[in-house]
Amino acid sequence: MSHSLELQELIAEMEQRRAVVEAGGGAAKQQKQRDAGKLTARERIDTLLDEGSFLELSTFTEHGGGALMRGVEAPGEGVITGSGSIGGRQVFVFSQDFTVLGGSLGKRNAQKVAKIMDLAAKTGCPIIGLNDSAGARIQEGVDSLSGYGEIFYRNATYSGVVPQISAILGPCAGGAVYSPALTDFILMSRGSSFMFITGPEVIKSVTREEVTFDQLGGADVHNRKSGVAHLEFDGDEAVLDGIRHLLQYLPQNARQKPPSRPTSDSSARQTTELLDIVTPDQRRPYAMHEVIHSLVDGGEFFEIQPLWAKNILCGFAHLGGEVVGIVANNPKVMAGTLNIDASDKAARFIRTCDCYNIPILTLVDVTGFLPGVAQEHAGIIRHGAKMLYAYAEASVPKITLITRKSYGGAYLAMNSRDMGADVVYAWPTAAVAVMGAEGAANIVYRREIQAAENPEAVRAEKIAEYKEAFDNPYVAAAKGYIDEIIPMEDTRRRLIATFKMLEGKEEQRPYRKHGNEPL
Ligand code: HXC
Repeated sequence: MSHSLELQELIAEMEQRRAVVEAGGGAAKQQKQRDAGKLTARERIDTLLDEGSFLELSTFTEHGGGALMRGVEAPGEGVITGSGSIGGRQVFVFSQDFTVLGGSLGKRNAQKVAKIMDLAAKTGCPIIGLNDSAGARIQEGVDSLSGYGEIFYRNATYSGVVPQISAILGPCAGGAVYSPALTDFILMSRGSSFMFITGPEVIKSVTREEVTFDQLGGADVHNRKSGVAHLEFDGDEAVLDGIRHLLQYLPQNARQKPPSRPTSDSSARQTTELLDIVTPDQRRPYAMHEVIHSLVDGGEFFEIQPLWAKNILCGFAHLGGEVVGIVANNPKVMAGTLNIDASDKAARFIRTCDCYNIPILTLVDVTGFLPGVAQEHAGIIRHGAKMLYAYAEASVPKITLITRKSYGGAYLAMNSRDMGADVVYAWPTAAVAVMGAEGAANIVYRREIQAAENPEAVRAEKIAEYKEAFDNPYVAAAKGYIDEIIPMEDTRRRLIATFKMLEGKEEQRPYRKHGNEPL
């Protein structure tokens, strides 16, 4: 059937206009992007989403003008937005186009993003942001600041409503960092991405410090030092693959559970290797990673922030096909003590699990909070309190397993029964006390030891006495603080059965507008 000439012309115009937008900043700028080892904004979307699933919206948006924007072209307004699917699940995505005015954020660019954020919230789907932007569009002045406001407002409003994931795939300067910072997860590409509030030039003029982009805010800095980012990868493809992987552990929204994943790993599998990993000698550190690998389906542990605050491990895994979040002390780093960074890392992870209905398994082997003037002066009280708060607040099923030591304040911070654990297990190797036997004996029996003819003999005797009395799991079990002391080899089976038992858990809390968690 032949259409009228008029219709054909209208269609041709639409296609021609679409082609202009799809060309972004043009072939030369796209080549520059590729030469830098990066994908273009559209290639990123195609790599991220299931093939052919992208449904673009707001293609024909144009910039909002302003005196300095006269004659300036901004195809697609510098950002590509729409929906698509990942592993068959619907998501919304925006991809900033650095080839168009450096991916800078103008008012209408922001409105495009805000529009899909609203759709994601209304339809209960994750939002994924592919960031590559020079920040506020300088030519648009206050309009571009307002644009950021629209996005930040939604980041905060939809926090805990639908998962929000940010990939940093190029520069992220000025305001461009705060939207990712308000989302649940930040993934960075090593060598080609950086995040900072003020760049090297400004820093040099103000503080005279000289620093490169990478030294200031590269992937390594934010994954190892600042704790701003959660994961780092080599190259865009690996980051996008990381997002697809991460999504497997998250639900579509706060009303749903994360998807189950059938496993060939038997729920009844005995974990006898644990007997070789964890020895009763409390001075011999062991790899908590190995404990986790032994317990979870297929040994697969998707660690979050693996390079920062390594004295605590946080991450996702499956147990009997269901997603769990794991928080575990790491005796191999700083003897697993809790410090400021570890508290921040764990608190954030616990809250992430709680808002997305992910049950929490806590593995405890901790001597306490890290002592030191620097920690006290930097506010370990405030930071440690975040962890206490997060556990108490979390209403998802919570199982605590004490593998070896659980002492003092850290006993509480690692989700003791009183802090809201639904079930507390311990291995026969466990010891629950206010502090280790040596420290305790020195304090409690100081006078006796000092007055003794042979102080060392009395000290040793008192340490042994204290160990007998407290340094074991039976005192805490006798008082009901531990619900069961379990065979190490039967741990996987029990954890799966216990999470199943807790599946229907519901908790009523007193009315409040929202809590006032320590920050
Ligand atoms: C408009 C911008 C821009 C901006 C860069 N461009 N930054 N256009 N607004 N903020 C344009 C450039 O003119 C250039 O256009 C193109 O984008 C690519 O920029 P280059 O500098 O050539 O790229 P590169 O060498 O890779 O350097 C990237 C960069 C640098 C490091 C990001 O452009 C830069 O430092 N930009 C300024 C960053 C910044 O200060 N942003 C404002 C932050 S204030 P042509 O036409 O030549 O291709 C802010 C406040 C918000 O964001 C606060 C909210 C809380």
